[in-house]
Amino acid sequence: MITSAIGENKNFYIETYGCQMNVADSEVVTSIMSTAGFVQTPTLDQADVIFVNTCAVRENAEARVYGRLGDFKHLKKANPGVIVGVLGCMAERLRKDLMESESFVDLVVGPDEYRNLPKLVDNAVAGERGIAVRLSRVENYDDIIPFRADGISAWISVMRGCDKFCTFCVVPFTRGRERSRSLASIVREVEDLSKRGFKEVTLLGQNVNSYLDQSWDFADLLAAVAKVDKSMRIRFTTSHPQDMSDKLIDTIVQNSNVCNYIHLPVQSGSDRVLELMNRTYSAEHYLKLVGKIKQTIPGVSLSTDIIAGFPTETAEDHRTTIELLKEVGYDGAFTFKYSPRENTKAWNMADDVPEELKVERLNEIIDVQREISFRKNRTMVGGTVEVLVEGESRKSTSEYCGRTETNKMVVFPKNGFGAGDYIHVRIERANSATLFGAHVSC
Ligand code: SAH
Ligand code: SF4
Ligand code: F3S
Repeated sequence: MITSAIGENKNFYIETYGCQMNVADSEVVTSIMSTAGFVQTPTLDQADVIFVNTCAVRENAEARVYGRLGDFKHLKKANPGVIVGVLGCMAERLRKDLMESESFVDLVVGPDEYRNLPKLVDNAVAGERGIAVRLSRVENYDDIIPFRADGISAWISVMRGCDKFCTFCVVPFTRGRERSRSLASIVREVEDLSKRGFKEVTLLGQNVNSYLDQSWDFADLLAAVAKVDKSMRIRFTTSHPQDMSDKLIDTIVQNSNVCNYIHLPVQSGSDRVLELMNRTYSAEHYLKLVGKIKQTIPGVSLSTDIIAGFPTETAEDHRTTIELLKEVGYDGAFTFKYSPRENTKAWNMADDVPEELKVERLNEIIDVQREISFRKNRTMVGGTVEVLVEGESRKSTSEYCGRTETNKMVVFPKNGFGAGDYIHVRIERANSATLFGAHVSC
């Protein structure tokens, strides 16, 4: 056990930006700090230690964190004893520069150094600023049980890092090389979550389907996790098209509690752009894969990530992306304007699509996808879906919300059930993002 002389009676506060991997990492940090005797506080004004777990994927992600650091700077002025630590991908990317530009920051700690946090905080209290940004080939926090409040859904990090090196992306630099946790410890974690009443787990990794523990691949992991508790829904994200094996597709269909939903980012519909991005597949190859998935998994729901305005992207390239969106008929898409990131390969390509054009293309992509999502959701009106109730809807205290297996959000009036229950809902109306209906007994 890690112990800290100063942990006792000291409160720490943690704020998280970025992807679900960061959310999962903050649970690991909370576990490490709590074991060392620190107490988590949900309020900033009671904190002796403030951590901000950061994202570096696009410039605007970093801008948000800089904005927040401005608040912490004021706080530190009023209370110089408070320790401020920047964790995560921005810490890893900016390292010493961050220390130099933000003189009130005490600690800069990258994603593979969290075990050292209590010690680093200890030193910071004694007046020593610290920087720890070594990336590891082996660290996967396999032995640390992440701190999770009770709930319905849990996220489990099963692998870390990325070896794909898409030319636009900082993740391989901020997260380091791919490494997987052991299958046995993941299964144990799911068993514990099941005993605690969780109803859904999402297996996480930047390339979750390149998971490998000895000879067990991601399909083996998925099958093992699915067996633990058949009343638990199993999800996973993010899948890279290159690692989407037939065995994995079969495993999804063979296990009833593995959700028929795959987030399968394509990024662009143009072969020329895909090549420049180093995505390792052509549009044709991707579409074949989607065809196989749709054929094997009836009713499967698909989503994607799209980047608008990658260097040299022409009107014709953009058109092929729109066509691909229509051809696949995604249920949803996460869409981004290209943002140049230092040290990536694309950084050396001219960022030559003008801002107005990037915005125009992005908006067209969003509009086209919204129309597709609406059309797909509308076909569900009149039908009945199984929903896992998550809790009160955001807009009304008299309604609950929950998701279908295919990850569609459903809103319905409260009617004698509660969070964590599986119920049937008859769909009465739909928009592009949400289905609305009422509980029916089947
Ligand atoms: N590992 C996942 C997700 C990585 S980050 C994957 O491979 O799909 C999430 C998304 O952010 C990416 O899929 C990509 O669409 C987007 N993204 C990453 N770097 C970006 C950049 N420099 N500019 C704009 N979007 C970017
Ligand atoms: Fe980034 Fe590509 Fe790795 Fe995804 S697969 S994290 S986009 S480098
Ligand atoms: Fe951001 Fe790092 Fe996740 S860059 S998207 S927090 S892996």
